[in-house]
Amino acid sequence: MNERTLIIIKPDGMQRRLAGEIIARFEKKGLKIVAAKLMKITPQLAKKHYAIHKGKYFFNRLIKYITSGPVLVMVIEGEKTIEITRKMMGATFGFDALPGTIRGDFGTSQTCNLIHGSDSAKSAKKEIRLFFKLAEILKYKMPDENWL
Ligand code: RTP
Ligand code: MG
Repeated sequence: MNERTLIIIKPDGMQRRLAGEIIARFEKKGLKIVAAKLMKITPQLAKKHYAIHKGKYFFNRLIKYITSGPVLVMVIEGEKTIEITRKMMGATFGFDALPGTIRGDFGTSQTCNLIHGSDSAKSAKKEIRLFFKLAEILKYKMPDENWL
């Protein structure tokens, strides 16, 4: 069954001009972008999005980082999308992430790890609602869907 997830190409991903590279990986995998916007996340929205990390020692650094520049926010849809995108992103810290993953191929940092992806169906639902109105999420078919 098709599933949706919230993906954010974080400020370092945009500043390092890696957005195209990251999107291409998801496209080639057969996932579908059903919503997208370029925006600067406000501190208020960032605190809601990362509410689960409130009180942790890295929280302030995380909010400063994610609000530091434009990000590309997307809803991506496909079979087992949450599990697949998390695998494609790699482990949280660049130095732990395996080669072949986005974080493993393009960085070594603990904070600046290029991409966010929802970690469960429950987080995906909450996060998609934070960033998009229902009407902004498009329903459409791709011509290769029968092959995927
Ligand atoms: P994300 O939510 O951004 O997709 O990342 P994640 O699930 O892989 O990792 P999570 O534990 O949710 O952490 C959220 C973001 O906070 C920064 N972080 N810094 N110890 C640290 O310095 C630390 N731990 C986490 C990273 O930017 C991480 O992606
Ligand atoms: Mg997370």
